Amino acid sequence: MSAAALKAVLPCLSLTVWFCILLSVTSAQKKPEDDATIRLFYYPNTKNASERIDVNLANASSFQNEKLVKGKRAKIMVHGANSFCESENFPMLSIQAYLTAKASGKEDYNVFCLEYRELAKVPAPLGVYSTFTEQFEYVVNTVGNKTARFIMALESNGVVPELSQVHLIGHSLGGQVVGTTGRIVQEMNNYQRKVGRITGLDVMNIFLVYKNVLKLRNLIDSSDATFVDIIHTNDGQIGLQGDYGKVDFYPDGGHHQTSCTQTGPIENLIEMTTGACSHIIVGRYWAGSINNRTLTACKADSYEDFTDSGCISDNNVTFGEYVSLSAFGKFYLDHPLIPAPSIF
Ligand SMILES: *[C@@H]1O[C@H](CO)[C@@H](O)[C@H](O)[C@H]1NC(C)=O
Ligand SMILES: *[C@@H]1O[C@H](CO)[C@@H](O)[C@H](O)[C@H]1NC(C)=O
Ligand SMILES: *[C@@H]1O[C@H](CO)[C@@H](O)[C@H](O)[C@H]1NC(C)=O
Ligand SMILES: *[C@@H]1O[C@H](CO)[C@@H](O)[C@H](O)[C@H]1NC(C)=O
Ligand SMILES: *[C@@H]1O[C@H](CO)[C@@H](O)[C@H](O)[C@H]1NC(C)=O
Repeated sequence: MSAAALKAVLPCLSLTVWFCILLSVTSAQKKPEDDATIRLFYYPNTKNASERIDVNLANASSFQNEKLVKGKRAKIMVHGANSFCESENFPMLSIQAYLTAKASGKEDYNVFCLEYRELAKVPAPLGVYSTFTEQFEYVVNTVGNKTARFIMALESNGVVPELSQVHLIGHSLGGQVVGTTGRIVQEMNNYQRKVGRITGLDVMNIFLVYKNVLKLRNLIDSSDATFVDIIHTNDGQIGLQGDYGKVDFYPDGGHHQTSCTQTGPIENLIEMTTGACSHIIVGRYWAGSINNRTLTACKADSYEDFTDSGCISDNNVTFGEYVSLSAFGKFYLDHPLIPAPSIF
């Protein structure tokens, strides 16, 4: 392969890059079967995040596994496109952070990760979907539907005491999956009950594609759970633009993260063109917030207001995992510099 050709495909090897999506074209091939490819993993060992148990919807006794302690809150992570549960920036760092918080005795919950790696392939193998829109609609609905059924099974088997004790955390395409999951859970309960909390981490901007075509029905929004919080780190590019949560966080203004533009001119150019680092770094922010409650975000109408006036409102909140569940609105902060994730 020539250097030029290699450069053209390189972005496709990184996580969730927009223009690769254009590569998916027509004809007929089988879509991945959901039961075989959508799996829920439970992490029983707070000292070893590589240990995991496959919880199987078709096998009721897998919910009775003695390592799965009943009656606790649940943290369920959902990865994005071209990703899987062992991807470092998300979900792995967050799985480890939750397990660490649990080991410290400060928090008590069961930690899960929902994996759909076959369905998460972008671009999909040639010929599986005729359009990009068809792919996203299929993936979001299929994975959302299965995840909703997993959550109902966790509840009916007593693994979680109540839907309100479930917290779903989705990155990128996974952010649209968790929103859809929240909506399907409501449908399955005649709109009488909701999941407690849904967090979207730089939720994927499928708005551009879905606008008009799907009438926004697949977009995450504040009605999907009792509390919906969204962190925007690359909005308007790979990430969704607009306030769709009850709380919307805008670190560094929400477009490009300062930690991603501290390296060199080439890296900067790649970052401005693709947004990949800013889109991915949110996983590190989230994991950091689980074991570090010290970052404060301030309520403001815009980043300009926040930078001009500072934190003048007394409505400031803790950034990330420990945000007050009674908070609402737009919150800004300058995130401390952290090492940027490698995007290749
Ligand atoms: C962690 O668990 C994995 C998977 O069960 C195992 O292969 C590995 O040896 C364990 N690591 C340690 C340090 O125990
Ligand atoms: C069902 O799950 C249990 C407990 O995890 C496991 O021991 C058993 O082998 C599973 N059965 C099947 C058919 O997969
Ligand atoms: C959701 O899953 C159930 C059970 O597998 C299935 O019967 C139903 O048709 C699915 N609904 C959608 C919209 O995919
Ligand atoms: C926690 O946040 C503080 C304040 O920004 C920072 O100085 C510190 O390095 C962070 N610690 C960890 C473990 O992330
Ligand atoms: C948050 O608000 C409280 C109450 O007004 C104030 O005392 C505190 O200094 C603020 N924190 C930050 C980081 O601005």
